[in-house]
Amino acid sequence: MSYEAAYTKWQTDPQGFWAEAAAAIDWDKPWQAVLDESNPPFYRWFPGGELNSCYNALDRHVDNGRADQLALIYDSPVTDTIQTFTYAQLRDEVAQLAGAIRKLGVNKGDRVIIYMPMIPEAVMAMLACARIGAIHSVVFGGFAANELATRINDAKPKILLSASCGIEPNRIIPYKPLLDKAIEMATFEPKQCLILQRPQQTADLVAGRDHDWREFVAGVEPAACVPVAATDPLYILYTSGTTGVPKGVVRDNGGHAVALKWSMEYIYNVKPGDVYWAASDVGWVVGHSYIVYGPLFHGCTTILYEGKPVGTPDPGAFWRVVAQHKVNVLFTAPTAFRAIKREDPNATYLQQHDISSLQALFLAGERCDPDTLLWAEKILGVPVVDHWWQTETGWPIVANPLGLTRLPVKPGSASKPMPGFDVRVLDLDGSEQPPNQIGDIVVKLPLPPGTLPTLWHNDEGYQNAYLHAYQGYYLTSDAGYKDEDGYVFIMSRTDDIINVAGHRLSTGAIEGVIAGHPDVAECAVIGASDQLKGQIPMGFLVLKVGAPREEAEIVREVVQMVRDQIGPVASFKVATVVERLPKTRSGKVLRGTMKKIADHETYKMPATIDDPTILDEIAQAVDAIGWQG
Ligand code: COA
Ligand code: AMP
Repeated sequence: MSYEAAYTKWQTDPQGFWAEAAAAIDWDKPWQAVLDESNPPFYRWFPGGELNSCYNALDRHVDNGRADQLALIYDSPVTDTIQTFTYAQLRDEVAQLAGAIRKLGVNKGDRVIIYMPMIPEAVMAMLACARIGAIHSVVFGGFAANELATRINDAKPKILLSASCGIEPNRIIPYKPLLDKAIEMATFEPKQCLILQRPQQTADLVAGRDHDWREFVAGVEPAACVPVAATDPLYILYTSGTTGVPKGVVRDNGGHAVALKWSMEYIYNVKPGDVYWAASDVGWVVGHSYIVYGPLFHGCTTILYEGKPVGTPDPGAFWRVVAQHKVNVLFTAPTAFRAIKREDPNATYLQQHDISSLQALFLAGERCDPDTLLWAEKILGVPVVDHWWQTETGWPIVANPLGLTRLPVKPGSASKPMPGFDVRVLDLDGSEQPPNQIGDIVVKLPLPPGTLPTLWHNDEGYQNAYLHAYQGYYLTSDAGYKDEDGYVFIMSRTDDIINVAGHRLSTGAIEGVIAGHPDVAECAVIGASDQLKGQIPMGFLVLKVGAPREEAEIVREVVQMVRDQIGPVASFKVATVVERLPKTRSGKVLRGTMKKIADHETYKMPATIDDPTILDEIAQAVDAIGWQG
């Protein structure tokens, strides 16, 4: 079927389209309706239906001839380990862990926070929760204790699953002290923790609260899959919001399974049995959808990679993994390719590996600059697909669907909307923009299966953040345009979210931390362009009159505060002191203009600026840092 035919089929009969897709999932009880539209703007997919996501990811493949096929390959250059699990082995490990989690008092609907490095037990933990109908919430390991505490307070987990340490190429990260601190800071108290002791650094366990993972799980009765409602939450994944308080994106079981299974076949063009590698982290949505659930729903072999694109040990790391495990499809962020290109511009390391298994590369998580896309195409000689989506949607909104027909590529565009997504570009009064005119990118409601039904225990926040701007549409908070052929170009965020190495961060949250420094009167953080990471946060600090200490010392302190309170993942390293911040006459900080100055771009003098001379001071401050981007 062509892309056009599939899109038209969906437009003509959306419910029929998704009913057909749902036949690829095993249901314990058939749904009563494809879509419940009785309570707009809240929509529910497959009401009445029951299924189990873990069953669909593991057991059914074991029962249907894939028991001995590899389900998971753990490849860890930082520990020099490769470990494999067949579908039967992974099912057994997960069933036993599920039994252990249940023994800790966790039942259907209870929350479990998973704060773990990229090890097989992290994947097992997610699937074990799904198996007994518990709701998992994975927190990325690069977040600090404070961020973990915020998530504990919101999700109110019965238990926490963690490991003694994570391993970065240059250092060991002790996770357990971060966990202990988070529990101490949180107002909600999880009763028990299961801690996986890694040999690189073990952790002290708190008597009565912490259990040694391996000892506790050994000998526990395995748990069977528990049928849950299609509309029951499978997981909560927190993502940066404009307020600085992370938003708990909810994912249901039924729509999620249907959409991901469909995407594996028609967008990523993989077959059951193929090897699929998403080089991301289980802490991000890419990890949820395309390290864990998507490939396993589809009967693929998935790869869990604990390493980096460069430095573990060299810029040939990705090619080694592709060659060694015969990867068919690779998915990563453009940053990873920029990092490889920077260290090995002529791709000489590629010559050492046979990557003939590779059929396609998919890139997402941040804007893909045409240079990176063209370089990847040139060195790999396979289709390179830029595709656009968000934590909220869980799967691609706009893509080039290789399993339908491959659309001609236009570098700079993520191609066209996928079935399920009616993407429009609106101007401020809500009318549709003509081709090539930038506006707010929105998606007409209802959103398709697999997208967020709401925010965790926060229907009002869901409506305020996404539905109030334009009646009947979901606001993506991305700005961009469609060209005359319907290709979508994503240009920038319209809120304070920035994208640092494919990681989504709120400048408001960083400003909130800096404002807590006793010598800082006010501050602004912008996302300055960076050749490697796409953007990095850059801070401008105005000190209180008579601030007693050296400016450089205060800068060092705020950098450390952001690292301690948000985490190293924020990559906040560049800040400077200025006399004043440029503002409009009504007092709004002109962050957009500051960003243009930091990026050495020409800018229009804002008509409402209070004092234009401040912009020169900002330019001088940027020059003084020596920022080149
Ligand atoms: N636990 C603890 N710390 C972590 C961490 C984790 N799971 N992941 C990253 N960090 C730390 C890093 O060690 C680094 O600390 P440092 O400031 O002390 O060096 C900091 O967080 C920033 O990490 P990162 O953004 O990964 O930058 P880097 O300089 O270490 O590596 C790249 C740069 C480009 C190689 C890396 O960003 C990369 O591989 N990007 C791929 C993008 C990606 O996977 N995106 C996911 C969405 S698809
Ligand atoms: P996250 O929720 O972390 O996946 O981040 C989602 C945001 O990343 C989007 O709203 C975009 O701003 C950005 N993004 C993701 N993929 C792309 C892409 N292919 N092109 C441009 N921006 C992207």
